[in-house]
Amino acid sequence: MKTVVILAHPNIANSHINKVWTGALSQAHPEVHIHDIYALYPNWNIDVQAEQTLLEQADRVILEFPFQWYNMPPLLKKWLDDVFAYGWCYGEGGDKLAGKEIGVAVSTAGVEDVYNDSVYGTIGDLLRPIESTAKFVGAKYLSHHVFHGAFAPDVDERLAKDIDNYLGFVTK
Ligand SMILES: Cc1cc2nc3c(=O)[nH]c(=O)nc-3n(C[C@H](O)[C@H](O)[C@H](O)COP(=O)(O)O)c2cc1C
Repeated sequence: MKTVVILAHPNIANSHINKVWTGALSQAHPEVHIHDIYALYPNWNIDVQAEQTLLEQADRVILEFPFQWYNMPPLLKKWLDDVFAYGWCYGEGGDKLAGKEIGVAVSTAGVEDVYNDSVYGTIGDLLRPIESTAKFVGAKYLSHHVFHGAFAPDVDERLAKDIDNYLGFVTK
């Protein structure tokens, strides 16, 4: 199983959650490729061919990002728009992602309690466009791993406990 993590954090230097996650991942699973698209493409000029080749070689693709306005950060949306091209992953001859696994690892500042139907909606609902995209290209959607409350007072304690679950989601 070859796994690639598409990391889309606009400011990884100031990150806490995603930095701890990817740090633990590269230590425990150096075989997993962490592909930091904000570092690779500071001018947002995505090398579509290189990205498609990377995905073709992977069995599992994890999209990892901090939630921004209930959505993915903008470079990840551009990456999807550019890389998930007609004739490559959909349309005539577009079968390159069929049968692969796609999942999401996401962090939020909002605490768990507000991610429900009566406030912001569940995280599963809010990630529905990614789930639909995965289905559209014939991939298996692995659902998500989420860490809420990135600035809550008990963040360090919860993050320490979360790491094994994150590693399990990405690699098992
Ligand atoms: C532009 C912007 C928009 C954000 N929008 C949301 C949001 O809609 N919901 C939320 O819970 N947190 C939101 N946040 C907070 C980030 O999700 C949070 O800072 C991040 O997940 C923490 O992870 P990190 O420590 O890896 O940076 C936003 C942050 C920024 C900078």
